[in-house]
Amino acid sequence: MSALAELKSYVAEMVELQAAAAIAHWDARTYMPERGVETRAKVVGRLSRLAFERVVSPKFGELLAAAEKELPNASEAERAMVRMGKRDHERARAIPPDFYQRFVELCTKAESVWEKAKAEANFALFRPYLAEIVDMVREMARLIGYKEHPYDALLEEYEPGMTTREVAGILGGLRERLVPFVRELQERGTPPPPIPAGRYRLPSQKALCTEVLKAIGYDFSAGRLDESAHPFTIGLGPGDTRVTNRYNEAEPFSALYGALHEGGHALYDQGIPPELYWMGLAGGASYGIHESQSRFWENQIGRSLAFWEFFKPRLARRFRGFARTSPETIFRMVNKVEPSLIRVEADEVTYNLHICLRFELEVELLEGRLKVEDLPERWNAAMKAYLGVVPPDDAKGVLQDVHWSGGAFGYFPSYALGNLYAAQFMEKLQEAQPNLWDEVRKGQFQNVLSWLRQNIHRYGRMYFPEELCQKVTGEKLSPEPFLRYLREKYALVYRL
Ligand code: CO
Repeated sequence: MSALAELKSYVAEMVELQAAAAIAHWDARTYMPERGVETRAKVVGRLSRLAFERVVSPKFGELLAAAEKELPNASEAERAMVRMGKRDHERARAIPPDFYQRFVELCTKAESVWEKAKAEANFALFRPYLAEIVDMVREMARLIGYKEHPYDALLEEYEPGMTTREVAGILGGLRERLVPFVRELQERGTPPPPIPAGRYRLPSQKALCTEVLKAIGYDFSAGRLDESAHPFTIGLGPGDTRVTNRYNEAEPFSALYGALHEGGHALYDQGIPPELYWMGLAGGASYGIHESQSRFWENQIGRSLAFWEFFKPRLARRFRGFARTSPETIFRMVNKVEPSLIRVEADEVTYNLHICLRFELEVELLEGRLKVEDLPERWNAAMKAYLGVVPPDDAKGVLQDVHWSGGAFGYFPSYALGNLYAAQFMEKLQEAQPNLWDEVRKGQFQNVLSWLRQNIHRYGRMYFPEELCQKVTGEKLSPEPFLRYLREKYALVYRL
């Protein structure tokens, strides 16, 4: 057997274990009975550990080294498998198992303390845990190593190859322009009408979500739609990419956009060639690129006027109250901009400001410039400066997100980067397909999807995000396309 073939079968075995862990995880978040928690935690823990042991194993290192010698005759996918395998192997080995175990235990504890602290709006409860997490995360960055900034080592987990300096430049430029733009909309714009109050029956909402997923090309013979407390998408291997959603009887749009968002993640997953999956090259180029696909369908397509020209009659068929509402009015309703306290409820204009704030605080914490005890005050000051609103308590402020309690420092930027990638990709797509919006107006999404398949999905995780962005758009990631998109769209929504 060639070294490459041996490496492939080793990687496939890791992938199988990860898939088994993933299905147990999916079940835990959808149908598992309440009392199954403890048993399931053990099972998922064991499967994840078995997969992790294979990543750090010296055997993996040997197989990678042997396979590297065969690379001159290898395919591009095989070269990517070796490159990504080495990256994963080295990153995982940088952290001593004991240290990692302690970190996981600390985070497990911290998550439940965070839940309580959030419920009671009591930061002091969570503070010592967060301080310990920050210490360990700083140590982790040191162990992993970095060229310029300790935060680079953390960012690498979510956005491989991206540096703190680059993110600071991109998000800084974005913030400078967004803050005055939000003010301009508020002061000079005509706000859209509110969503009519009412009771929007859940079966109709669910049917509408299924309808929209089918329309954009989500393959229900290779997936399913279920309910969970927080919507998510999970790839269980070729032929099985599942999405979940949640529903709110008071209005139908959050579920609809939840479906489009998760549908975007799922189309990416369904578009990755099976052979890449077994080589450990599924999962997308980065968190930011994955988020670009969800935001693309949710915002670039789903919050466009053309989309509502197509979808309004379908909405009105389920909810008669919209029968006489124009597509333009719905387009304006779903694009309301309002500085608010909670990131996950933010509109697409103010959303990135929530991310700028989190990124800046994470970097300051990591540098030691900001102490955990000063975090709430610093948070509130930044909210005031960027959004003009101040949280009444820490539950609606510094305690709102789960990420820090789970030790996920470096994650937040991916959300904003996803918005920017989506806009940059859309500019390219519009150049390539001048009839795009006429097709969207008719509910025809095949050409859009095949462009995404052709340019992004089919590569899976073969390239780093920067390489992929260059390949697709010929340029590095920039905030300009996103800012152009906002200007053009919100001039219509706010009648500037
Ligand atoms: Co997402």
